[in-house]
Amino acid sequence: MTALLAVRQVSRTLVDPEPVSLLRDVSLVVERGEFVAIVGPSGCGKSSLLYLLGLLDRPTTGSVTIDGEATDDLSEAQRTHLRLARIGFVFQFHFLLPELTALGNVALPMRRAGVGRAQAEARAGELLAKLGIAGEGWKRPDRMSGGQRQRVAIARALANDPVLILGDEPTGNLDSVNSTRVVEEFRRLAHEEGRGVVCVTHDREVADAADRRIHMLDGRIERED
Ligand SMILES: Nc1ncnc2c1ncn2[C@@H]1O[C@H](COP(=O)(O)OP(=O)(O)OP(=O)(O)O)[C@@H](O)[C@H]1O
Ligand SMILES: [Mg+2]
Repeated sequence: MTALLAVRQVSRTLVDPEPVSLLRDVSLVVERGEFVAIVGPSGCGKSSLLYLLGLLDRPTTGSVTIDGEATDDLSEAQRTHLRLARIGFVFQFHFLLPELTALGNVALPMRRAGVGRAQAEARAGELLAKLGIAGEGWKRPDRMSGGQRQRVAIARALANDPVLILGDEPTGNLDSVNSTRVVEEFRRLAHEEGRGVVCVTHDREVADAADRRIHMLDGRIERED
């Protein structure tokens, strides 16, 4: 079976206003059912790598293949379509839309993918229930706790049933109880549902819970354990 995610000899450099090397010769394979943490000091390139994995940015050299599909020569519209269908993001800041309810926020990616309102809201309700916040669906984000908001953000990431889930410091604003919930959910999404989870983290608990840890330093993969 093809790997879920294959990054081959990727570099990313910026030229303007001055040359900056964000990533150098990074190669990485993630299989379905794996929970992988990316760790390393601030500024080492973790988010830059995640943006490439999430098709939010393009490498300067090298290739990114998702679910067997080479992404490098795709148009922006094709990349957006692939991202919407196969990838879910969870960030440190939840980026929920304040004017929508929790249910509306989770339904939104489905609506964007062309799912009808009733069906999108029904599935949104199921996802909120699965994350233990069924009763909060009618609330707007500013009326929810940080932990509840982050669970809404995870539900939204799962809206279109992605094979690949990407997290950038998803527990960065959470207390230890809520961090543990997020970690357990990530493990379950990988190990029970067979998705790939790649999570950038400074949080020791998250890193320890992952199947393997990729250590980055100065734009490179330094080692793995
Ligand atoms: N648009 C940009 N212009 C110039 N330099 C940038 C830009 N984006 C990132 N960098 C630099 O690239 C390096 C990698 O940044 P990146 O955000 O990937 O780090 P990180 O490992 O995610 O750090 P943190 O843990 O603080 O989030 C940093 O040195 C940063 O200053
Ligand atoms: Mg970062």
